[in-house]
Amino acid sequence: PIPIILDCDPGHDDTFAILLAAGSDRIDLLAVTTVAGNQVVEKSTLNARRVLSLAKVHGVPVAQGHGAPLLGGTGHGEGDRYGGGDVHGDSGLDGWEFDEPTVPQDPRHAVELMAQVLTAAPEPVTIVAVGPQTNVAALLTTAPHLKPAIKEIVCMAGSTTRGNFLPYSEANVLFDPEAAAVVLAAGVPITYVGLNVTHQALVTRDVLARISAVPRLGDVCEALLRFRSGAYDGIWQMPDPPLHDPVAVALLIDPDLVRCRRANVVVEVHGQYTRGATVIDLLGVTERAPNAEVALELDAPRFWDLLVGTLEGLA
Ligand code: BDR
Ligand code: CA
Repeated sequence: PIPIILDCDPGHDDTFAILLAAGSDRIDLLAVTTVAGNQVVEKSTLNARRVLSLAKVHGVPVAQGHGAPLLGGTGHGEGDRYGGGDVHGDSGLDGWEFDEPTVPQDPRHAVELMAQVLTAAPEPVTIVAVGPQTNVAALLTTAPHLKPAIKEIVCMAGSTTRGNFLPYSEANVLFDPEAAAVVLAAGVPITYVGLNVTHQALVTRDVLARISAVPRLGDVCEALLRFRSGAYDGIWQMPDPPLHDPVAVALLIDPDLVRCRRANVVVEVHGQYTRGATVIDLLGVTERAPNAEVALELDAPRFWDLLVGTLEGLA
């Protein structure tokens, strides 16, 4: 199995990334670390513990990380709605009343846990970052000697086309553009899974019916996805909402699920209207060297088969 650290801000779609990583026998989930994003970091952490408890996954440490972007502030800027409850609700995971989690919070800071996991692992570890990249950037700047211990960083971030929280900015990058820029410049292998590909993973009626039918976990998953559908419909007129974050885990499990192309990715940190936009040179029209594998196309039926099958395995 592929050893990974999952850095996340759960979040409805993060929840499915956690379940997919925890349930797949092709993944060795070494740690879950949390960051402010969909909600404040304390809620991200509580939600990560709730999801692992629900799945009866014990023994994976959950550590809390940064509660604000690298340069401080709220990260909101023009994307003022960001971090609010619009998409994920006040709890960050609205739609279901969770029991008190049985999975504890690890006392270490997320960045400390990441460093210790990387140091102890017998082989390089993949970091899957599906929230703002504050913790990952902090790790890379405070412990650059650990870069060889990172096999790859898979980011759910950015877009080759348009954004979501701003016309050209995707939420995870918008919330901490400097962190995303640090990660892209680190010289570590990077895969970018952006909105252009995650918007191919739409929770249609058929998908919802299949997930709802999963024994034990089906009811919770259905309630969370129904909340998401209402939120997406209200904000973006998309009643079949995309499930971004599990795509970043899925491509590790089955590389044939996603077609990628090498390209240069940079982040707009100064834009007047485009702060947090990812500029992805798919045509090779700049002199900038490719620095990432950029996901372009998803085999959606196969993705849903993988996700549903893994949820059934956790039941
Ligand atoms: C990303 O932002 C968050 O709201 C989601 O969890 C996902 O990681 C999509 O832009
Ligand atoms: Ca997320």
